[in-house]
Amino acid sequence: MAFPRCDQTVAWSALSGHFEAHGRDLDLRQVFADNPDRVQRLGIQAPEVFGDLSRVHWDVATLRHLLDLARECGLEARRDAMMAGEVMNTTEGRAVLHTALRAPRGQGPHSQQVHDVLDRMLAFVENVRTTAGGTAPGQITDVVNIGIGGSDLGPQMVVPALDAFVHPGLNFHFVSNADGQDLASVLRKVRPEHTLFVIASKTFTTQETMANAVAARQWFADHGGTDIARHFVATTTNVEAAAAFGITQTFGFWDWVGGRFSMWSAIGLPIALALGSSNFHAMLAGGHAMDEHFAQTSLAHNLPVLLGLMDVWYRNFKGYSSRCVVPYHHGLRRLPAYLQQLVMESNGKRVDAQGAPLPFGTSDVLWGEAGTNGQHAFFQMLHQGTDVVPVEFLLVRQPSYRAPGSMTPALRALLDQQHHMLLANGLAQAQALMWGKTAEEALGEAVPTAAPDMPAEAIAKHRTFPGNRPSLTLLMDEVTPRSLGALVVLYEHRTFVSGALWGINSFDQWGVELGKALCKDLLPRLCSGDTAGLDAATAAMIARLR
Ligand code: F6P
Repeated sequence: MAFPRCDQTVAWSALSGHFEAHGRDLDLRQVFADNPDRVQRLGIQAPEVFGDLSRVHWDVATLRHLLDLARECGLEARRDAMMAGEVMNTTEGRAVLHTALRAPRGQGPHSQQVHDVLDRMLAFVENVRTTAGGTAPGQITDVVNIGIGGSDLGPQMVVPALDAFVHPGLNFHFVSNADGQDLASVLRKVRPEHTLFVIASKTFTTQETMANAVAARQWFADHGGTDIARHFVATTTNVEAAAAFGITQTFGFWDWVGGRFSMWSAIGLPIALALGSSNFHAMLAGGHAMDEHFAQTSLAHNLPVLLGLMDVWYRNFKGYSSRCVVPYHHGLRRLPAYLQQLVMESNGKRVDAQGAPLPFGTSDVLWGEAGTNGQHAFFQMLHQGTDVVPVEFLLVRQPSYRAPGSMTPALRALLDQQHHMLLANGLAQAQALMWGKTAEEALGEAVPTAAPDMPAEAIAKHRTFPGNRPSLTLLMDEVTPRSLGALVVLYEHRTFVSGALWGINSFDQWGVELGKALCKDLLPRLCSGDTAGLDAATAAMIARLR
């Protein structure tokens, strides 16, 4: 596609000038004072998600330059090309059509095959759910998903996030690690006649997944399990390999669905088993609503576009190399792990789509933890450390703890109070990051612990907060299948936007291949002790390990 890479545009030069003149030293407290309507201007309502971009380190002029940059880089044409099924993943010669998985029946590319698999999968799901939790042999109580990366992280994130919607007779387990402890700890808890194993692998060749699948099959046979066809299903594009494994019930998808974009496909089977058909449809509909927002809303009001532009500004001008995602919703505790693959596998690239080395930074490091837990671990560094790390607060207006039958009004009132506590904590952290605390303010405070050997002024220095630390707040009314679908798609498209401006291929992942190949060589050496031809460090470590 004949559009320039971001650094080869006129807008980039203008943005550089703007950065030197206004961006480098921008102080949030000042821009708030200068612009009384900043909160209104920088509040964007997208489907199910409201974004407060007012505490982002930018001003209206920055945004204008970034929007010029997006236009000059052909962002809209690139977006339309992706959604129309053009080969965007050029190194693998593939289209990138996860959006088609969420399109209503009859709309979008490949609709017939998408909905054929979806219908078949959801019929299977309803069949399992009808008797789930029962005590008769064959009635399922436990679902064990065996998969890794994109064949694990989506279902593993969504099922706990939507705990309130999960079938009460079903327990869900997610096994991914090559470490046998992962599988063994799950097998201790389940019974063969009541367990459904989902072997999830796009390629059906991934080392860890195949090893865990073989071990699970062994355990099943060891414990008297006979009906593999009934207790093992596969979600894969490689139906032949699944059949060779002994699995007859397979739900397929296609090479135009990347692993990290696959929770909407058959890889979402555990999600559908947990939530049921109509909730799975609601999740797809939420995702589709965000697709429509991305495809149709003007760039200036388009939440994924604005967030992607923010990412470019932060990475390439402000110099921020990491971002911290903190969902103030316990169910969303695996969201940072999910987003790590989405963002860092997509945009962790050092050459552009043509193979030319990039003279600027790409993916930042994404990390995080549920609030309020993160506050008691790493927030010290966020407030007073030497590096500025933009923080993303995810707030949810309604609590979504499951109402147990035994919940008395008194308990309910206490938990409701805790929800206010949770929200107040999130608000307070964003406030503290932005406003900080001066040495004078700190001096005026009564210090709780006396430190007689230290002058009050010195203690006050430790108790100051620089402030002017940026954050973003994403607000949802409630975590439902629909809103969660929209939230995930918001992050997908945001990642696409920064990748498009950087001119990289956001859809391949060659960086994971070298380690895989080397591991194949080292595995037999660990058993035999043969270290011939190895580098000294690896050879010495093999000797110690044996
Ligand atoms: O880690 C590399 C990767 O290819 C991911 O992109 C993918 O999600 C994961 O491995 C699992 O692959 P598969 O679904 O083929 O087992």
